[in-house]
Amino acid sequence: MKTYTFLLQLFLHYANMSFVSVSIQRFGFCCLPINWAGLDFEGKSKRFYILLQGGDCLEKRELQSLVDKMSLKEKIGQLTQFTPQYLGREDGELTGIMGDFAVDQVYLDSLGSVLNATDRNEVIAMQREHLKKDRLKIPLVFMRDIIHGYRTTFPIPLGLGATFDPQLVEEVSHVAGTESAREGIQVTFSPMADLCRDARWGRVMEGTGEDPVLNAQMAAAMVRGYQGAPGELVKDPTRIAACVKHYAGYGAVLAGRDYNNVDFSRLSLYQDYLPAFQAAIEAGAKLIMPAFTLFEGLPATASEYLLKKVLREYLKFDGVAISDWGSVGKLLTMHIADSQERASELALNAGLDMDMMAGAFVRGLSDAVAAKKVAVEDVDRAVLRMLNLKNDLGLFENPYRFIDAHETLPPAPSSESRRYARVAAEKSVVLLKDKNVLPISVKSHIAVTGPLAASQRILGAWSSYGKHDDAVSLYAGLKNQFENVSLIPDPISSDPADYANFDVIIVGLGEREDDSGESACKTRIELPEDQVALIRRLQHTGKPIIGVIFAGRPLALTNVVPYLDGLLYAWFPGTEGGNALANLISGKAVPEGHLPMTFPRTTGQVPIYYNEPRNGSPADDQHPTKFTSRYVDCQNSPLYPFGYGLSYGHIEYGKLQVNQPVLTDDQPIQITVAVTNDSDYRSSTLVQCYVGSTITSVVRPVSELKSWVKVVLEPNQTDQVTLTISVDDLAYVHSNLERFADKGDFIVRIGENAEEYQELTLAYQ
Ligand code: BGC
Repeated sequence: MKTYTFLLQLFLHYANMSFVSVSIQRFGFCCLPINWAGLDFEGKSKRFYILLQGGDCLEKRELQSLVDKMSLKEKIGQLTQFTPQYLGREDGELTGIMGDFAVDQVYLDSLGSVLNATDRNEVIAMQREHLKKDRLKIPLVFMRDIIHGYRTTFPIPLGLGATFDPQLVEEVSHVAGTESAREGIQVTFSPMADLCRDARWGRVMEGTGEDPVLNAQMAAAMVRGYQGAPGELVKDPTRIAACVKHYAGYGAVLAGRDYNNVDFSRLSLYQDYLPAFQAAIEAGAKLIMPAFTLFEGLPATASEYLLKKVLREYLKFDGVAISDWGSVGKLLTMHIADSQERASELALNAGLDMDMMAGAFVRGLSDAVAAKKVAVEDVDRAVLRMLNLKNDLGLFENPYRFIDAHETLPPAPSSESRRYARVAAEKSVVLLKDKNVLPISVKSHIAVTGPLAASQRILGAWSSYGKHDDAVSLYAGLKNQFENVSLIPDPISSDPADYANFDVIIVGLGEREDDSGESACKTRIELPEDQVALIRRLQHTGKPIIGVIFAGRPLALTNVVPYLDGLLYAWFPGTEGGNALANLISGKAVPEGHLPMTFPRTTGQVPIYYNEPRNGSPADDQHPTKFTSRYVDCQNSPLYPFGYGLSYGHIEYGKLQVNQPVLTDDQPIQITVAVTNDSDYRSSTLVQCYVGSTITSVVRPVSELKSWVKVVLEPNQTDQVTLTISVDDLAYVHSNLERFADKGDFIVRIGENAEEYQELTLAYQ
């Protein structure tokens, strides 16, 4: 086959044409337009169709030969990403970096990527203009943040974490990807695989919580959802490429303040922060974004240790490393560099491929190369990665990526995308309290009140193109389903007597959408005082009160929980939030959500997370004593532990049964537990399996989540749930940064959350 391809190249060479790039694995035998250098992508008359098979090797060589044809400026353009404004689109004056310096037109004509184009019309127009200008006709790649939906908005990622359902998360990511692809977006800056332990940090809403195993499963699910199986990206119009971020440890920002410094050990990097990135990379993520933050005193953008040693050698990542917004320029702000030349040198030599929005490479990289501070081969390597990405997306063959196929996709939100949004929202809501008030009959007389009762601003901070007008508020959702629902718009001035004819009060509480997300951190995570006052006032009605809380983070709810009879934590549930909540409140759906982050009693406990390492002076909340690790004004335990979540009815756990007491390298242990719904409602439980070691070589957490099984049971139904423990579940990172399991005793804890479980001591031999 190689001979045929060679002959074909020879023919094309003598016919004075560039040859095509085709891959055996992807296409097999297929017919493709030749739309390479010198040929017009759009001029149908100039298209040549040929039949050939290619090979990976040949393809790489062709990409390399394209690199060889590029001038240094063209290469630097290829490694640069700007917003449409920088290409002279949109009216306004150029502000920020572009207002400060003139960019040589060659850089703009050979630009690699555009960030935040608004829709398919803009994408098509920009690509068309670009292909006219770029000497080598290398298509632009269009990227944007699609974090929890494009137009159809799904629950915020923290809410998706609460579903503990990677399959569902994969499906909604595919819907989000499909809607994005339709609008010309080819890469999303998602998943955010950051480990989140500090609820003050606004970006906890973008992650899936505090557990490395849960985060790893969710990050991988998102990547699969966006990209599909390996090789699908190039041929499936509904797929886009995923950029996992923010690598690594951004969630550790001190004091929960965005962009602040971080400081954690290599041990913690490998044990806590890397697993979710590793999972996303293994699932095939095509790009990675270094964090704004530091590692061992160096910004991740300029950390050779992170970007080469760990990323390329340990994690075996061979995709594109794209900076976060303006990060290369921040090397000057952090006094690591004193010029654009030095900043470019530091970033490129550390292993960064693409400069997002700093304009540092276009200002400084050619000088760094001229001064021999950066080797051309390193620039070429970065360019090749960019071309590989474009090739993986099929852009060389199809620079407008399936525009015809996209015409046939239904406009969003469609009834199908809304169905996904509703199911995801239902499964994300966590029932925190129920004094037998829920579910309620559709005939009940319901008063709905509170600041978020009728609000459509429940999409969440990163809803991309989500429209508030599409969102179903709590009140609207209840109206769709219950017969007697009244909105009390001004609860503060209402009189308790106004509620006399109602059976139940539902109060919509929480924080504003823009109180969480990027650069939206808090020093107090309690509910605002007027909301606490409202609940206390409603107490005087003598009616049962059900709270529904909308929030982008765990809130400290100690001062309201005692006054509520039922409490549903809805996160920001997205477009179908109100309908999902109504289904749960009526019992049409049962609560299945579980907390992916620990809920503190008060802000002062934060950061609080279930899997913190042991300390030498452990405190006992029941018998507090001096000189133990505790507070004098608050217990150590959280208000609600990680994994917590009620359902309707009650599920009883039987005794744990183990198939063998000893674990060996080739014999995993199986633990079985019977779960019985002994109530009159359909009910759900999340059977969680935690593992802890007895004696370890470095100080370790008491318990760590390893796996879980979600069960939904009809009344009187029993299920046998089996969980498997293998040696890998005991493995941890040792002082030499190697991950392996120690022989000896270990403890398995199986239960409904991180604090309520049955345990068994077993041995690994
Ligand atoms: C954020 C990233 C985001 C990027 C592009 C940055 O400010 O930190 O998460 O992907 O902007 O919008």
